[in-house]
Amino acid sequence: MASRDTAPLWVFGYGSLVWRPAFPHRRREAGYVVGWKRRFWQGSTDHRGVPGAPGRVVTLLRAPGERVAGMAYEVEPAARERVLANLDHREQGGYARHEATVYRTPNDAVAERALIYVATPDNANYLGPAPVDAIARQVVASRGPSGPNDEYVLALDDALRDLGADDDHVRELAAHVRALRR
Ligand code: SIN
Repeated sequence: MASRDTAPLWVFGYGSLVWRPAFPHRRREAGYVVGWKRRFWQGSTDHRGVPGAPGRVVTLLRAPGERVAGMAYEVEPAARERVLANLDHREQGGYARHEATVYRTPNDAVAERALIYVATPDNANYLGPAPVDAIARQVVASRGPSGPNDEYVLALDDALRDLGADDDHVRELAAHVRALRR
């Protein structure tokens, strides 16, 4: 078996990394991680909001028995260190590296130890739960260096639909955001 240093590096995206990985990868495969739920509970002051007026982006919370669909990428080996440095920079607004197994089916793993970026409640930008209409209003009002916050929500909703993934939280928020934009 290959040692950890020479094993392929897989990254699992469940937010913007689903539709905009922006790093060289050898292949990608849809999959899911188990024991987590996805929530728009992380504040963004560097991508979809600004300091003092944060937007909302997704993070993962521990949730035994639940699963989160997303996209797994096998990083181009020659670019491994550059990709890690760029991802650490991109996710620096409160996310830290974790590891998870990515599954294609319950008995078949895409990757045993994929890297995922998770923003835990102890980070300075964490916002936590709020009613969906309040989150939607915050999203529609927010914009940051990476663009409007509503674009992030709708792009994630579209990407998950393309994957055939059901995520009630994302779907409900996207419906509220669309209604506010009308
Ligand atoms: C991810 O996409 O996996 C992390 C959260 C984000 O950057 O939106």
